[in-house]
Amino acid sequence: RGTQGINEKGHLTIGGVDSMKLVEEYGSPLFVYDIALIKEKVAEFKSAFSRHQVRWQVAYASKAFSSIAMIQLMNELDLSLDVVSGGELFTALKAGFPSERIHFHGNNKTQAELEYALEERIGTIIIDNFYELSLLNQLCKERQQTIDILLRTTPGVQAHTHSYIMTGQEDSKFGFNLDNGSLEEAIQKAQNSPFLILKGLHCHIGSQIFSDESFVQAINKMFQKLREWKQRYDFEIKVLNVGGGFGIKYSAEDTPLMIGEFVDTIVSAIVDQCDSLGIAYPEIWVEPGRILVAEAGTTLYTIGAFKDIPQMRKYISVDGGMTDNLRPALYQAKYECLVANKAPAPADDTVTIAGKCCESGDILIWDAKLPSTTEPNDILAVFCTGAYGYAMANHYNRMPKPAVVFVENGSSQLVIQRETYEDLIKHELPLKQSILI
Ligand code: LLP
Repeated sequence: RGTQGINEKGHLTIGGVDSMKLVEEYGSPLFVYDIALIKEKVAEFKSAFSRHQVRWQVAYASKAFSSIAMIQLMNELDLSLDVVSGGELFTALKAGFPSERIHFHGNNKTQAELEYALEERIGTIIIDNFYELSLLNQLCKERQQTIDILLRTTPGVQAHTHSYIMTGQEDSKFGFNLDNGSLEEAIQKAQNSPFLILKGLHCHIGSQIFSDESFVQAINKMFQKLREWKQRYDFEIKVLNVGGGFGIKYSAEDTPLMIGEFVDTIVSAIVDQCDSLGIAYPEIWVEPGRILVAEAGTTLYTIGAFKDIPQMRKYISVDGGMTDNLRPALYQAKYECLVANKAPAPADDTVTIAGKCCESGDILIWDAKLPSTTEPNDILAVFCTGAYGYAMANHYNRMPKPAVVFVENGSSQLVIQRETYEDLIKHELPLKQSILI
């Protein structure tokens, strides 16, 4: 994938850097990002959109992996940014990301978060529900400030993906339902506010989606409503944000479309609908997270304990697990791996890769194919961990979070330091004597 290769020592290289050298220098486990691959994905979006006569914005969904360096990179690449919390907004601003290109999402933004967004004059707030609509209106009124908004709708479309990451169906905590009149009521409320500048609509139907069908269904359902409303009142849609969710190939069984195919279908569906309705094309926004960063990320682990249960299973444990990659435990997500220091060796053994957490479910890969010569202290590379890996890392069993490095053109750069044991207790206060008595 990307710039990965094998050098004369039989070691996996990423961005032209020997993975063994990376572990020597930065320790293990280690997240390694191949920056050239991220640039390639961004370029694919840009060239796909520029083939069409529409205005567009690509916003990186920073929940997939938010860090100062990654956000600086997305800024350099001229993307917009989607944030979903005060913490993500803070990170973006600290990275110097221009506030007018930030979009703020979330189904329960707090008053403090909304005030923070208004204070920083961020570009757009995507309103999720009636509570937020009236709270934001009130805050804007107090500050005598206007803000661009989109209304998030739940179009009632089931994307074919894991139920935990489906979001477009009617029974969802997100957005105004399209079919029961909620969205229509929200539009009217927003239009009645002198402070909320309603630019258009947003929907996000789910994540790790392989086909474009659900995007088309969602678009068509939204336009069906626009057609009905057109007879009754004035609502001009200037922006249509169709969210993210573009799937990637974690393993051989995944068969996603190419970026260009997703973009072409989305744009054509919107253009066709606008033409038949006789309205101007809205600016089209997308919010990819996973597809921009997942494949660029590889986790390097050190192999430790072996356990062989004859005729049953061979377990090989690594020095990380569900603390740096929760996805297998949470979504039964599948990954592929390679022994990075024995890259050319035939994968002639079947083993189960276990994490080191005190939890039977902490299995990173069931039935992985590895060389039978695999031994302790070998380095295991697990691929496609760049999205929702570090982002969902946690401190279960008091495991410090790994370090993160970026690699490109034969050089590496540390962008997040490995946590230390001291970091784990840095917010803790000792028990006061008086409580003991
Ligand atoms: N826009 C909105 C409004 C979203 O809710 C999401 C993801 C995205 C964009 C970006 O989706 P992406 O392009 O990355 O699929 N933790 C789960 C994924 C949760 C996604 C939540 N929302 C996982 O590891 O699979």
